[in-house]
Amino acid sequence: MKNWWKKSVVYQVYPKSFMDSNGDGVGDIQGLISKLNYLEKLGIDVIWLSPVYASPMDDNGYDISDYLSINPLFGSMEDMKQLIKEAQDRNIKIILDLVLNHTSDEHKWFIEGRKNKSNRTNDFYVWAKEPNSLISTFSGSAWEYNEETKEYFLHLFSKKMPDLNWKNKALRNEIYQMMNIWLDLGIEGFRFDVIEYIGKEPLSMVTANGPQLHTYIKEMNKATFGKRNTLTVGECWNVDIPIAKQYSNPDGSEFSMIFQFDHMKIDWDETLGKWKPCALDFVKLKEVLSNWQISMMGQGWNSLFWNNHDMPRIISRWNDDLINPVHSAKFFALINYFMQGTPFIYQGEELGMSNARFSTISDYVDVETINAYQDLVIDRALLSEEAFLKSASIFGRDNVRTPMQWDASPNAGFSIAKPWLPLCKNYKEVNAEKQIDDKNSVYNFYRSLIQLRKDSDYSDLIQDGRFTLLEPKDQHLFVYERQDEHKRILIVANYGNQKTHYKIPSRIIKKIISNTDSPIHQELDLMPYDAYAFELE
Ligand code: GLC
Repeated sequence: MKNWWKKSVVYQVYPKSFMDSNGDGVGDIQGLISKLNYLEKLGIDVIWLSPVYASPMDDNGYDISDYLSINPLFGSMEDMKQLIKEAQDRNIKIILDLVLNHTSDEHKWFIEGRKNKSNRTNDFYVWAKEPNSLISTFSGSAWEYNEETKEYFLHLFSKKMPDLNWKNKALRNEIYQMMNIWLDLGIEGFRFDVIEYIGKEPLSMVTANGPQLHTYIKEMNKATFGKRNTLTVGECWNVDIPIAKQYSNPDGSEFSMIFQFDHMKIDWDETLGKWKPCALDFVKLKEVLSNWQISMMGQGWNSLFWNNHDMPRIISRWNDDLINPVHSAKFFALINYFMQGTPFIYQGEELGMSNARFSTISDYVDVETINAYQDLVIDRALLSEEAFLKSASIFGRDNVRTPMQWDASPNAGFSIAKPWLPLCKNYKEVNAEKQIDDKNSVYNFYRSLIQLRKDSDYSDLIQDGRFTLLEPKDQHLFVYERQDEHKRILIVANYGNQKTHYKIPSRIIKKIISNTDSPIHQELDLMPYDAYAFELE
């Protein structure tokens, strides 16, 4: 079926923290295989597998040293083939996280290229005789001196992640060849890491959305996945609606869909970003979500997500004190799952897992957090240690990367050894084993939402129905409607810690799903984080 991904739900596996099969404290591919039944039962269609390629793990695998081999920490190519096969047996497709903006400095292209200007792969990377003022996302200058060639190489991320030069046609061809090898192995799509940077013109200070970006994506599409029925999603931090429509053009010339982050940056500071967050402006959040819903309708396709391996657990971020975490986890799920787009679940979200809330800098192992601390607290003194650590307990990426909470046994059933990162302390209360047979669990709420999207009287409406935001200025109520020529759905949800009420605008035919059993009246009383989906006349 063409565009099958419009009705699919994707589950992101961060392999280091999913399931450890060999007792080294690090998750692996065999561990993931052992949990495929769990994922099948949840009802997901696709697994987005964060990088498992050979890598020195400076950025947990987003620094690839060989695109065509598997990091022994995670297993072997045989394990990978087995994963693809066993997933297919359960009707689950595997899509790989592909990092094409940069490689590891331990990739053979870079090792050779940095030795000599005349080596073939020198031009696979981006060089300058003098650095300009470009800043790396992981703090400090984006340029690093290379003694052998007396030039600087570009790294938009860590120093161990040199940027690739997409202007080089031979490089592009090698990349396409590699992608086709993966597709031939049975991979059914890709998530493209920071793809917006591949058209960069760094000497003119242009990083995202460079002039050749869409030319390269179209070329890649034609040379690789375009001929196949895949799910492709581009990670785009700097994107407006017209550009998003280009990326996800329904003519199929680029990707299936994108990740855009407008709703995820609402509480960021203008200069210090996530390291100095402010309170959530809920009215703004509704405006942003609604704008994307309305503008993309029929002209592109979006993903729906609240968190991933870079983004805090939503119930820790926007339900500060974790008051009634089960209730608020269902609230965030419900308001997301009736919008248009393809939902992405980040591992553990379906259990209502929360941030670990690490409290000292020595708790962190993530290169981004450690570099930001050095830069903002030590070198430039822009934030006090206390202020930084408070923000880091929300946005520091290790807080969302703690091991999956499978059960209440030691190490939460994730590993027989001490995990590479400490567990979130609540694993005895919040874990899969406890939730699978509990009909009121977050897990079973996700199962129901997934079923509603995929296979119910409402599936078509959820996929394509018109979106209308109601009560746009209300500080707590999130009310929206989806409608097509047959049916009308109303979502009513109450954000925050106060009671409120809402008069349902027409007769209720049916309650489709909600996170509460409170009695329903046309004039509806809502407790904190109550959320409903109704079918209306
Ligand atoms: C993306 C990944 C992130 C990584 C970065 C550099 O944003 O999601 O984890 O650090 O790209 O590859």
